[in-house]
Amino acid sequence: MLKPQTIQRLRAPLKKTLKAASKSQSTAASVKVGSSEAPLYYLNSQKVMDREYKYGAHNYKPLPVVIHKAEGVHVWDVEGKKYYDFLSAYSAVNQGHCHPKILEALYLQSKLVTLTSRAFYASALGEFEEYITKKFGYDKVLPMNTGVEAGETACKIARKWGYSVKGIEKDKGKIIFAEGNFWGRTLAAVSSSTDPSCYSGFGPFIPGFRIVPYNDIPALEEMLKDPEVCAFMVEPIQGEAGVVVPDAGYLKKVRELCDKYNVLWIADEVQTGLCRTGKMLCVDHENVKPDILMLGKALSGGVYPVSAVLANDDVMLVIAPGEHGSTYGGNPLAAKVAIAALEVLEEENLAKNAEDMGNLLREELNKLPKDKVEIVRGKGLLNAIVIHKNYDAWDVCLRLRDNGLLAKPTHQTIIRFAPPLVINREEMKNCAEIIKKTIDSL
Ligand SMILES: Cc1ncc(COP(=O)(O)O)c(C=O)c1O
Repeated sequence: MLKPQTIQRLRAPLKKTLKAASKSQSTAASVKVGSSEAPLYYLNSQKVMDREYKYGAHNYKPLPVVIHKAEGVHVWDVEGKKYYDFLSAYSAVNQGHCHPKILEALYLQSKLVTLTSRAFYASALGEFEEYITKKFGYDKVLPMNTGVEAGETACKIARKWGYSVKGIEKDKGKIIFAEGNFWGRTLAAVSSSTDPSCYSGFGPFIPGFRIVPYNDIPALEEMLKDPEVCAFMVEPIQGEAGVVVPDAGYLKKVRELCDKYNVLWIADEVQTGLCRTGKMLCVDHENVKPDILMLGKALSGGVYPVSAVLANDDVMLVIAPGEHGSTYGGNPLAAKVAIAALEVLEEENLAKNAEDMGNLLREELNKLPKDKVEIVRGKGLLNAIVIHKNYDAWDVCLRLRDNGLLAKPTHQTIIRFAPPLVINREEMKNCAEIIKKTIDSL
């Protein structure tokens, strides 16, 4: 655990840098916000949003708030208003924003070497590979950058395994996905999607993908009987679908069935992993181990894109040199940042804190009027409320924003609550009050 003095020491140079950056902008100023020095930006929020709308593709519809600075569980907008972050960059910032230990790893490595490509060895990569494989109990890791690349990698490994180990006829391999899945935006990811806004207009799709209802063991068993199936990819809790938690025992059954039918189980823990649900991995709640584990997001604590696929030799070694890779995948900066990010989870006991604070949050959310908040669900600090259809989740998020808490709707009536795992009891109580006040105002 980092001592408060150490955290203070590490933060000091960062503050200096921020101040210097703020001074270098001709019209910038500096303002005290709480105990933090928050540099004001030279454009106001509206102007920043207008510029982004004019020059950026319209592939997102952000909540209208412009973040300029962040620390721990808080973010500040360009006018200096402070908010609680209840999205954590879709669970990438589990360790809290700008964690000093992770920033220090980034800074120290950036002075040595940042990118070599995998054409050569880099001293930092093996250190990361040894660390992460021992931590999660797998023989090998294949490092990539984003979560969706981890998914693509897992699918490629599974298909190759299907042909070279299971003996499926060439190009006939099938992968099963759960209805409501979300694992990114590439053509493979949208080919497996059941959400029309993800896939409509982007066909033709990748063949060999099949869909099974989530949390439905008999339906899964029927599909696994097909000898051409090489893998079943599933999120232990479906995040983007609205924090859908399967029945207790579901993952155990998935493990049993995949063993029975000689099918690889791919667990997409890009969002649920790394302490988010109150355990290091969400599959740990049922003490089961997938054949292929996908990690991303919080693997860098939000500092840098790092993802990883873990598997044992009998699976991972189906990939030979030249068959898969990425220029940035496993680069020295990523390697050092990921080690630091994983160490922080352990040193600060964030799984336990996620469990405790999650219990507290759901206890408070369950006190909200049932005619407005119909369902509260989640595990650890991956939670959602489902509001009555008379209300609009977007409107609720605007009100939450005005009251100092940032959350994002997923679908019309669902709001995800997933703060950084470093949130403390007092802050959580405070947030519960903000949510209550907002719901009361509807
Ligand atoms: C479960 C899951 N898998 C994969 C991804 C894709 O990650 P990325 O956006 O880093 O590509 C996401 C993104 O939200 C996700 O929630």
